[in-house]
Amino acid sequence: MHIPVLQKEVVEYLGPKPNENFIDCTVGEAGHSLAILEHNGPKGKVLGIDRDKNQILKLKKIERLILVNDNFSNLKEIVKKEKFNSVSGILFDLGMASSHLEESGRGFSFLKKEPLDMRYDLENPLTAEKILNYWSELDIEKILEEFGEEKFSSQIAREIIKQRKVRPISNTVQLIDILKTAIPYKYQHQRIHFATRTFQALRIAVNEELNYLKQALPQAIEVLNKEGKLAIISFHSLEDRIVKNFFKEKSLTGELKILTKKPIGPGEQEIKINPRSRSGKLRVATKQ
Ligand SMILES: C[S@@+](CC[C@H](N)C(=O)[O-])C[C@H]1O[C@@H](n2cnc3c(N)ncnc32)[C@H](O)[C@@H]1O
Repeated sequence: MHIPVLQKEVVEYLGPKPNENFIDCTVGEAGHSLAILEHNGPKGKVLGIDRDKNQILKLKKIERLILVNDNFSNLKEIVKKEKFNSVSGILFDLGMASSHLEESGRGFSFLKKEPLDMRYDLENPLTAEKILNYWSELDIEKILEEFGEEKFSSQIAREIIKQRKVRPISNTVQLIDILKTAIPYKYQHQRIHFATRTFQALRIAVNEELNYLKQALPQAIEVLNKEGKLAIISFHSLEDRIVKNFFKEKSLTGELKILTKKPIGPGEQEIKINPRSRSGKLRVATKQ
């Protein structure tokens, strides 16, 4: 079952009122969108965007929810095309959806044997398999280091090159075996699963997640009404750093006022019900 992360806090901060319009840049399973729609009736709308066509197709028709299959990096263009005016709040709930992990079959989860795809957008020509089998050792090492903050990046990259000469790397189990060879035994039994960083790095590289976030944030400010709220949930330090620095920079220029001095995380109760919420961090600012 899908449980939206920090839903109560998102609704509190966005503060939807009757007839106001909102944009959910990562509509996913529409958990947050539905929570907003409960408050902004009878005429307020939500424009829900998702890069994954399957996410959009899976959603039932919901009154006042306009769905668009696109990348949030095209936010201004989408808003113009949809003639979606007067925006009181924008939400980004970054990363993958629970359905990506649990049922997409695209290799997001290291707990299942699946092909190494990792795309949100199935029209994207780049897959994790292509990176692993065709990129240079140096480029693989670089993404493991930059996007996974993986301290064994060079050992892993070397083992990938060695193994792909024997046979192509095509599924998650092969990749886990490579990691077991490359990462010292001691580090394979820590609190965070030893494959987490490599899978995160590949996912970020395949989907160019950090680039698109950087492109979308300034557009979000442009699209918002004055006093409109910008709420962003991130799930790892690379994303959170981008959001934190953007908020800081725009508060210095007077374009944003930061509402969350420190990011808001889930409470114990939410973590118990939804362990995946553990790393969620919400930052919110108001357009000045
Ligand atoms: C964490 S889920 C959102 C869950 C949603 N808030 C809910 O309550 O159901 C993130 C979603 O963002 C989508 N996504 C990731 N990057 C995107 C991008 N650049 N543009 C649009 N959607 C994106 C993913 O396909 C995924 O469905």
